[in-house]
Amino acid sequence: MHDESAGDFPYRTEYKKKSIRSYVIRAGRMTEGQRRAFDNYWGQYGLSLFGGQLDPRETFGREAPLVLEIGFGMGDSLLAMAAAEPDKDFIGIEVHPPGVGRLINNAGKAGIENLRVYMADAVDVLNDCIGDALLDRFQLYFPDPWHKKKHHKRRIVQPEFVRLIRSKLKAGGLLHMATDWENYAEHMLEVLEAEPQLENIAGSGNYSERPAFRPETKFERRGQRLGHGVWDLLYKAI
Ligand SMILES: C[S@@+](CC[C@H](N)C(=O)[O-])C[C@H]1O[C@@H](n2cnc3c(N)ncnc32)[C@H](O)[C@@H]1O
Repeated sequence: MHDESAGDFPYRTEYKKKSIRSYVIRAGRMTEGQRRAFDNYWGQYGLSLFGGQLDPRETFGREAPLVLEIGFGMGDSLLAMAAAEPDKDFIGIEVHPPGVGRLINNAGKAGIENLRVYMADAVDVLNDCIGDALLDRFQLYFPDPWHKKKHHKRRIVQPEFVRLIRSKLKAGGLLHMATDWENYAEHMLEVLEAEPQLENIAGSGNYSERPAFRPETKFERRGQRLGHGVWDLLYKAI
């Protein structure tokens, strides 16, 4: 195991200055495999917050529906989706280096080509790198719930965030969130219902069934072991 803050690891999470963050960057302990993955595969999969606007056609060498996921954690469910839907291109954004290492390691070994990754604050990436009306699907699965009321302001789902996401979706595009925390599900529903350019696929005020394209995630399984429920929310951009 290595401490990635020890100085001999040149890959850093990218973000801009802001007063409230939706995450804490933990001094990441990485396995040797995760660490080596950066040397082996970051060149193939990594994108930089400071690399300017993403041009999907140039990045992927083709024109295909584009899916963006924020906070993929250890990345197994995102990798499964990229493998299951080779006709689409996937962008993952995560601040946690061990998760990024694990994802690019497994993607590289599996020869996955329709995936790229930012190791950065997703809100900064959305603002600086993702053009308007670029995305066919947006995914946010089990975002940090910030249980305590005094921390609710750190929840990533806020009206301004939803407006930002909506602006990045094509008309007809899909917005998909899931959480295992009922109070956060209610908050998501309230914020999403208030956005006039989104239409709830399950009908106003309703949660959706988990769609077949979303595998169970690591965090979801952890919640299930603790007896949590799961709430999926699916909206169409209008
Ligand atoms: C509770 S975990 C869930 C991970 C995964 N989606 C799952 O279901 O297993 C939430 C993840 O979101 C990431 N995250 C939180 N805020 C973020 C941000 N602004 N940009 C990128 N990643 C973020 C955290 O680092 C964490 O890995």
